[in-house]
Amino acid sequence: MTTPFYITTPIYYVNDVPHLGHAYTTIVADALARFHRMRGDDTRFLTGTDEHGQKVEEAATKRGLTPQQLVDQVAPRFDECWKTIGIDGYRFIRTTDAKHKLVVANLWKRIRERNPEDIYLATYQGWYCVGCEAFYTESQLVKDGDTWSCTTHKKPVAWIDKERSWFFRLSKYAKPLLAHIAAHPEFIRPTQYRNEIVSFLEKEELRDLSISRTSFAWGIPAPDPDPEGLAHVIYVWMDALTNYYSDLCPDGSLESADAAKYFPHAIHLIGKDILRFHSVYWPAFLMAAGLPLPHSILAHGWWTVRGEKISKSMPATRIDPVTLSDALAVGPLGRPIGIDAMRYYLMREVPLGNDGDFTFESLFGRFNADLANDLGNLVNRSLTLIGKFAAEFPPVCDDAQFAGGENPHWQLETHAFQATNAVARELELCAPSKALEQLWKFIGQANRYIDQTQPWAMAKAKDPVLGHTLWCLQRSLWTIAQMITPVLPSTSATILGWLGDAAPARWPIGAGGRVFTLAPGVLATDATPSVLFPRLDEPMQAAIVTKVAGEYAAGAAPAAPAPKPAAKAAVKPEAGATDAPAGPITYEDFAKLELRVGKVLTAAAVPKKDRLLHLTVDLGEAKPRTIVAGIAEAYKPEALVGKQVIVVANLAPRKMAGLMSEGMILAAGDEAILGLSAIDHDVPPGTRVR
Ligand code: MSP
Repeated sequence: MTTPFYITTPIYYVNDVPHLGHAYTTIVADALARFHRMRGDDTRFLTGTDEHGQKVEEAATKRGLTPQQLVDQVAPRFDECWKTIGIDGYRFIRTTDAKHKLVVANLWKRIRERNPEDIYLATYQGWYCVGCEAFYTESQLVKDGDTWSCTTHKKPVAWIDKERSWFFRLSKYAKPLLAHIAAHPEFIRPTQYRNEIVSFLEKEELRDLSISRTSFAWGIPAPDPDPEGLAHVIYVWMDALTNYYSDLCPDGSLESADAAKYFPHAIHLIGKDILRFHSVYWPAFLMAAGLPLPHSILAHGWWTVRGEKISKSMPATRIDPVTLSDALAVGPLGRPIGIDAMRYYLMREVPLGNDGDFTFESLFGRFNADLANDLGNLVNRSLTLIGKFAAEFPPVCDDAQFAGGENPHWQLETHAFQATNAVARELELCAPSKALEQLWKFIGQANRYIDQTQPWAMAKAKDPVLGHTLWCLQRSLWTIAQMITPVLPSTSATILGWLGDAAPARWPIGAGGRVFTLAPGVLATDATPSVLFPRLDEPMQAAIVTKVAGEYAAGAAPAAPAPKPAAKAAVKPEAGATDAPAGPITYEDFAKLELRVGKVLTAAAVPKKDRLLHLTVDLGEAKPRTIVAGIAEAYKPEALVGKQVIVVANLAPRKMAGLMSEGMILAAGDEAILGLSAIDHDVPPGTRVR
């Protein structure tokens, strides 16, 4: 018996075309669905379009179209956008589908049958925001002069003067809702949103809700006749929320096997702007109809640009997800990798639930440090080492090497085992950023394993353990390639292809502390990997900024990284030093420089100094040197231990951040794209560089 998993996104309004905000919700839902599919869960993923209501009717009139013509033009653009950015395995619902309309009418009738007093006729008078399609009290609006405006759209709201309407007795459900939330702590997630709704239900008197309109016609007709003969259409939120249920009812009846199977497992992923509709109105309708409630409402924050919510009403904030992913498709592997980079940034940068400000600086930082550096290098180094040495030292498991708890091979597998559990746990809790944090911890450990075991030195020494070392490397790469699938599906498929594993992605669940043995018996040993994520240098960054932000008015686009000098030493250059060439120097000038190979023994952050790391470096002298280097933006301390670097050994000592720095490390580039001078094979510490 497989467990059902049912994830939904909000259905998007068709008076707009998809932007990065919509894409965020859809991408997170896609990643969670992919994870559950990998685990063998019976997964259902629903998205779609919200096509009725005053807003759509007004937008159609403005364009000289009928509402049906407008929705038929725009709805496919969402579907096409999701296909273009690789969203997979979803069902697409439209609220103008005949079957959906039938289910909405049936829900209304069911409420009347079960609780006849819950739907009644009365007169509505009050404020209405067409943008939100929501009724507001003055305490929920802001006043500027004589005008009341909605806080989300920052536009004036309309006064509805005594419109006859059907009402839903929402007030009756405050207590049952509070009881349900108390009994199901996971019903509204994350906690800050549960607290918000609990406090709203406790502090504010829940008012009955107007659930029909008579002043426009674009909607589902209310099933109950009005004694005065007025034509009512059902309130668009009652119509729209029902999509999550109606997609499960193949013949329009509320009694359906799919509904019984999936709906109690439904997770409604939404933006925080529509929390109240989902966690108050929707469960109250369902309670009134005697239907089960969804498993949970999972709310995320807003993506902003320069602090403004990305939205239709703020044209300068609108980032097109297709343009962005195309702009990031800089490597030989093209668009799929650009899409993966966009997905990674969105899911890693901000913990689900918080707001996030989109900046190119943070995007390029993540791209270079996490994708190009940590993941890209690991893949490249591992496959290159395997390709180079596997013929002589075939990758096979040597159980004797796993005997002790202290050896690096056993530690690597233990870390892999821990990672598969920790990453899965975070994804089960719908926390992709935490899952990625755990995954990248393991990528760091695998990179360190290479530094520790030094396979090139083992090859030189003809050490027979090299075969086992290559086997461990292959297995950790396979484990990582599987685990990145939900977030980086194309990257995963590419790496698995290089490893010769063409089977559908599956979660590497270990047992008894073992995980490597789950990898297929034979993996390829001769892959020639191409670059997955090329480091974005300044010209590449500038080209991406131009592509994505080109259409914005100057100053309104997301902040671009400030231009940087072409090269910089890893510590601040001495006063008077410049990047300009100084002209030819004599050999004697050069010979004054004492450049030596050093091996980093320890590395640690310097408190309160974001750029600096405190290193101890072995120069083959009696005592290791202390060196303070400005490389923290490019290297995590743990990634440096064991690395060979070139040190200017005769630079006069200098006090930095309270520490006496006894040398300078040579480095190329700047901040996140900085690279340390490398020596391609092991050289004893202290060797002079000429
Ligand atoms: N049609 C309603 C939802 C009905 S669901 C039964 C609606 N549509 S919408 O087109 O306005 O889309 C809203 C959703 O898009 C948000 O809840 C959120 O999921 C996503 N986002 C729109 N702008 C966003 C940001 N700037 N940031 C993050 N998500 C955003 O409301």
